[in-house]
Amino acid sequence: MPELKVSAIREGTVIDHIPAGKGLKVIEILKLGKLSNGGAVLLAINVPSKKLGRKDIVKVEGKFLSEEEVNKIALVAPTATVNIIRDYEVVEKFKVEIPDVIEGILRCANPNCITHYEYVTTKFYVISREPLKVRCHYCERTMEEEEILANL
Ligand code: CTP
Ligand code: ZN
Repeated sequence: MPELKVSAIREGTVIDHIPAGKGLKVIEILKLGKLSNGGAVLLAINVPSKKLGRKDIVKVEGKFLSEEEVNKIALVAPTATVNIIRDYEVVEKFKVEIPDVIEGILRCANPNCITHYEYVTTKFYVISREPLKVRCHYCERTMEEEEILANL
């Protein structure tokens, strides 16, 4: 089968090995629909992959990710690889990793949690990665994958 080619980017970030079907969610959580630099965003859905069978790929021209953004991607797409591209070359490649503690990037699903009333940074402990499960530091509410993705 001929290899499927999505055009290479000159400068920016390629998020590869995203579980098939999660690419749009990655674009959504990174708010790439409204890139301030006007850079191109490319999305490939259901690309054949040796490792995953099928995968999604997101390419973002002219943008490099913050640690917080990488952590968000890890929650949505734990198999993802982040490639940093400069002058058409991959200059850095790393796998995303779900951290042990998630601070500031998730809302608590408990409407009575103090984090909704006081100006505090949210904090969750990862109690399981597969399936994904976290516990709020403030109210001890546990959240599973579906709730986590809805509250990113
Ligand atoms: N890529 C890109 N633009 C470039 C260079 C690379 O869009 N100028 C993309 C490639 O299409 C690929 C990803 O960045 O999706 C990683 O590139 P590379 O490391 O060359 O590919 P692989 O060796 O296949 O990566 P891996 O081993 O991580 O599967
Ligand atoms: Zn809470």
